[in-house]
Amino acid sequence: MSHAREHTIQVVAHRGASEDAPEHTLAAYRKAIEDGADALECDVRLTADGHLVCVHDRRVDRTSNGRGAVSALELADLAALDFGSWKHRGSPRHRDEEPDWEHRPEDPAETSVLTLERLLALVADAGRRVELAIETKHPTRWAGQVEERLLLLLKRFGLDAPADPEESQVRVMSFSARSLHRVRTASPTLPTVYLRQFVSPRLRDGKLPAGVRIAGPSIRIVRSHPLCIERLKRAGHQVHVWTVNEPEDVALCVDLGVDAIITNRPRAVLELLGR
Ligand code: G3P
Ligand code: CA
Repeated sequence: MSHAREHTIQVVAHRGASEDAPEHTLAAYRKAIEDGADALECDVRLTADGHLVCVHDRRVDRTSNGRGAVSALELADLAALDFGSWKHRGSPRHRDEEPDWEHRPEDPAETSVLTLERLLALVADAGRRVELAIETKHPTRWAGQVEERLLLLLKRFGLDAPADPEESQVRVMSFSARSLHRVRTASPTLPTVYLRQFVSPRLRDGKLPAGVRIAGPSIRIVRSHPLCIERLKRAGHQVHVWTVNEPEDVALCVDLGVDAIITNRPRAVLELLGR
């Protein structure tokens, strides 16, 4: 039975509308908002001089014309790089693919490094409610400081301490239970999402770390262990699935009654959901 009409599944743009525009750029997030995405997903890392920037990989090599670890570079170094051209050329790992980004904006700011502060400002100016799912990327070099900076920045936008977690515009996601624990300790009402790529015995039983209310399983887990999703739901947890790009996976998520679909193709998924 389809659950599509029983509750609205939130559509979350993974790294922005990252199929159409280079991931984690203003261009990708603007497109996601235009496409009607309910929420935006972004990964955050801390630069050497303490700025939170939206970059997925530990290094900038794949998604820019520069080289080096984000944690070893200052914001000014990153600001000098182009985070857009790789998409037009195809990433180094996909050199043989056709260029898939035909409509580059002329303004270099659209494809330069994106700070979390700029993304929060974009969301604040969106003209409608757009939620943010912020992923702390395996904090290592700056462990602890990532969460501290994140909460300070959220506080400046009035988003760090929602009165009702259900109404929060922001949630923090991580594969690191320790990172989520740091966030909850400092800001108990901010919702946290425990991301998992592979199933574990605890997850199979529908259990999450204490205090976490939202599960973030990969679509691979959903396909191979649908019962696990049912148990999580029965235990009262929300389930946010990543990264869901194929129609048959969207249909599976609908049938299982998941709460959010995280996708590189927000427009296509909204259409599949009849929105
Ligand atoms: O939304 C969760 C998902 O983004 C986790 O995987 O590697 O794309 O950050 P990754
Ligand atoms: Ca992510």
